[in-house]
Amino acid sequence: MGRKNVLWADERTLSKDISGKVYIVTGANSGVGLETTRQLLKQGGHVVMACRRTNAAEEVAQSFSGLKGSYKAMRLDLADLKSVREFATEFLQKYDRLDGLACNAGLVTMGGGLQRTKDGLETTIGVSYFGHFLLTELLLDLLKKSAPSRMIILSSVVHAGSKKNRHMVHLEDLNYTTRKFNNFAAYSEAKVATILYAMELAKRLEGTGVTTASVHPGWARSNFGSGGNLLIRMIMAIMRPLTASMSDSNEEAAQTSLHCLLSDDAPKHSGAYFSQSSVLYSDKVCKNGGWPMTSPNPNATDMDTAKKLVDASYDIVGLKKN
Ligand SMILES: NC(=O)c1ccc[n+]([C@@H]2O[C@H](COP(=O)([O-])OP(=O)(O)OC[C@H]3O[C@@H](n4cnc5c(N)ncnc54)[C@H](OP(=O)(O)O)[C@@H]3O)[C@@H](O)[C@H]2O)c1
Repeated sequence: MGRKNVLWADERTLSKDISGKVYIVTGANSGVGLETTRQLLKQGGHVVMACRRTNAAEEVAQSFSGLKGSYKAMRLDLADLKSVREFATEFLQKYDRLDGLACNAGLVTMGGGLQRTKDGLETTIGVSYFGHFLLTELLLDLLKKSAPSRMIILSSVVHAGSKKNRHMVHLEDLNYTTRKFNNFAAYSEAKVATILYAMELAKRLEGTGVTTASVHPGWARSNFGSGGNLLIRMIMAIMRPLTASMSDSNEEAAQTSLHCLLSDDAPKHSGAYFSQSSVLYSDKVCKNGGWPMTSPNPNATDMDTAKKLVDASYDIVGLKKN
């Protein structure tokens, strides 16, 4: 049986005809991204499934037959900035509009030490934030040209931490060159970064018709965290039935993204954090979630840090600031 207080996108949102509109969903072959894609296709949209394993995208796409919309699988490895640039170039050659960019992919590196992307970035923040940062910046002109359009980026409840331990981006060492590495702290920090980026980008895009949102999808029964070693995979398998009553189906976990991509209300709150309800918030007041809601973590609401993070990110991904 599912959880009682799951937030669902309303019927009007989920029945809009979006024929002719074009979306990109990163990590569309699995979990939240797959169910986000499926709903966009149900409503007639065209979805570019931006995946590092296009064969996995083609495999899951077999379940789309009969849906009104259409899809194209295109290769995107967010842990390789060259791949991000190649994806953006190919997309811009093939498409002349982009109505919604869902920066959905993410991972936590399980059971190992520090891992680095091809460009030497710490992998967790490299994929969840830096890869999506470059992707978004390269597609911004098309988003503006297609306005009203939307960009969403996935965060997580864990960004919030607790009153005693609020996570933060470490501007002085974003990629763990000198700090001690911890998988879960790195994941939480990456998810603070995605919230800050949505905030900063919204401010920069004021008046353009392009709006942004960051999203906590819920506790999804997806493939998340399944990349660990055998011991971790066994622990995850044992935990899954025990946590079933507190966690969400992938369809439920796609609701917040769908609300942010399709509802009439979400653009009125550009830059905000939208959260599914979650027992995992240590702050009681947050447990019911909110579309939008204020993060309880002051490090995730500070515009000065957001601006500094984005300024540093241009250099890190090798982009010129406009
Ligand atoms: N599950 C949860 O409870 C939960 C909670 C809060 C937030 N989130 C966030 O929700 C988002 C979706 O996660 P999920 O639960 O749907 O997990 P998932 O089933 O593991 O899906 C993650 C997706 O990200 C893709 N990905 C990972 N590394 C990539 C890379 N280098 N380049 C391109 N794609 C890459 C994966 O591709 P492969 O299939 O090739 O690995 C997969 O398609 C993530 O950002 C996650 O952090 C999840």
